Amino acid sequence: MKILVLNGSPKRDKSDTMHITRAFLDGMNAAAPQETEIIDVIDKHIEYCTGCFACMRNGGACIHDDDMRPILEKILESDLLILSFPLYCYGMPAPLKAVIDRVLPLSSMAMTKVGDRYEHVGQADFSRLRYLMICGCGFPNSRHNFEPAAAQFKLLFPDGHTIVTVPESPMFNVPQAAPVTQPRLALIRQAGKQYAETGGVDEALLAEICSPMIPEETYAAIVNGSV
Ligand SMILES: Cc1cc2nc3c(=O)[nH]c(=O)nc-3n(C[C@H](O)[C@H](O)[C@H](O)COP(=O)(O)O)c2cc1C
Repeated sequence: MKILVLNGSPKRDKSDTMHITRAFLDGMNAAAPQETEIIDVIDKHIEYCTGCFACMRNGGACIHDDDMRPILEKILESDLLILSFPLYCYGMPAPLKAVIDRVLPLSSMAMTKVGDRYEHVGQADFSRLRYLMICGCGFPNSRHNFEPAAAQFKLLFPDGHTIVTVPESPMFNVPQAAPVTQPRLALIRQAGKQYAETGGVDEALLAEICSPMIPEETYAAIVNGSV
């Protein structure tokens, strides 16, 4: 499978979230060898969408000639698009959001009703593409935290999406936390293997991955320096 990872963390490969993403990819590779490319979005020159809609009217050409063009080509060549990002203000970090806004040339102005909502009709055929959101965050709670980002991802990619979220993710970069982070990474590798083999991940496994690695009060006390 051809996999494109858009790493939305400004910390590049030092990203807490990329520990989760690498474990998931390891699991996928254990099932079958995968062809993976990782793009650190922070290093790319991506102009903001101006909202001119020129790209949706004239066959897909954006007015900006920047690093978005090769990224769009890579998306179209991929079987799986992974958005790996830390939760920022309950959403995705701005550099990655700028990339997502600039995916507009793949759609046309025409809209069609699908169920009880409207979607734009594609200008390109990306029907085989599947979508995976991998998101870490700094709070210990998942509820009242990941929901806005997950809801946006589902609306952006209504078909073929999977969402992996992990709270307390700064612990992945703390060597002393290995006794709790290593078992969590093992679960994430299991999820990656399952995804490669079946195209999905059990809800129960996703819920386990999304639970705090240590009790939330303990985590908060460590962060607050009171332990
Ligand atoms: C600007 C900013 C906004 C953040 N917003 C949230 C948030 O809404 N919820 C949360 O749990 N953590 C939040 N965090 C914490 C990060 O998600 C957390 O530190 C994460 O582990 C960073 O991952 P990374 O190393 O992959 O970049 C925020 C961090 C920053 C810098």
